[in-house]
Amino acid sequence: MTAHRRGLLLALEGIDGAGKSTLARALAQRLRRDGRSVRLRREPSDRELGRLAQLAGARDPWTGAVYFTLDRFLARPSLERDLQRADVVVTDRSLYSTLAYQGSALGASAVRRLEELGPRATVLPDRVALLDLSPAEALRRVGRRAGARGPLERERTLQRVAARYRRLARQGAWTVLDARRPTAELVDAIVRSLPEGPRRNAPRPAPAREQRT
Ligand code: TYD
Repeated sequence: MTAHRRGLLLALEGIDGAGKSTLARALAQRLRRDGRSVRLRREPSDRELGRLAQLAGARDPWTGAVYFTLDRFLARPSLERDLQRADVVVTDRSLYSTLAYQGSALGASAVRRLEELGPRATVLPDRVALLDLSPAEALRRVGRRAGARGPLERERTLQRVAARYRRLARQGAWTVLDARRPTAELVDAIVRSLPEGPRRNAPRPAPAREQRT
């Protein structure tokens, strides 16, 4: 059932305006330069379903979470294909976005159901990097992108989401990065946190010798 995987799945997480998409592109460029094959992805995968999920989620977080999970489930075959083909798959958002955004608006028992549902719908990331930024700063960055809601309500929502992200990061031992740092530094920090991967042009390693302790 589960396809053989060779790629590493790295998820970038953070509140709106944290700079995930810029970082994802720079990271992909750097990894490719280092000789690794990379696939870039984003969630929601289907724009229309994503829009629906956002609309539904604003009124009812559980329904929003189900739509985002459905999007993930539908995208799973293509994610698995990417993982078979690439050394590293970088995804801008993952199931942890649902746990942070919708999960922080739901009660404990609904969150437990989401925690069960999520991993059945998709592939769990091997590594997660959180781009941490204060909601006030994030809102300054997104400006007009902030949407129809009032800025105060928007900031309160992002505060709730940012707090949940920090909790998830502690529990999951994620790499936490200060999003105010220059992109090149963030890329370095992520690359350092990754296991050494296969490099297309690198010589094959000699057979491992028996380890003596
Ligand atoms: P995204 O596409 O990353 O934002 P943008 O349109 O600015 O590129 O995500 C859209 C919004 O959906 C964003 O506010 C985060 C939210 N979202 C959730 O609430 N739950 C989820 O599971 C996902 C994937 C996104």
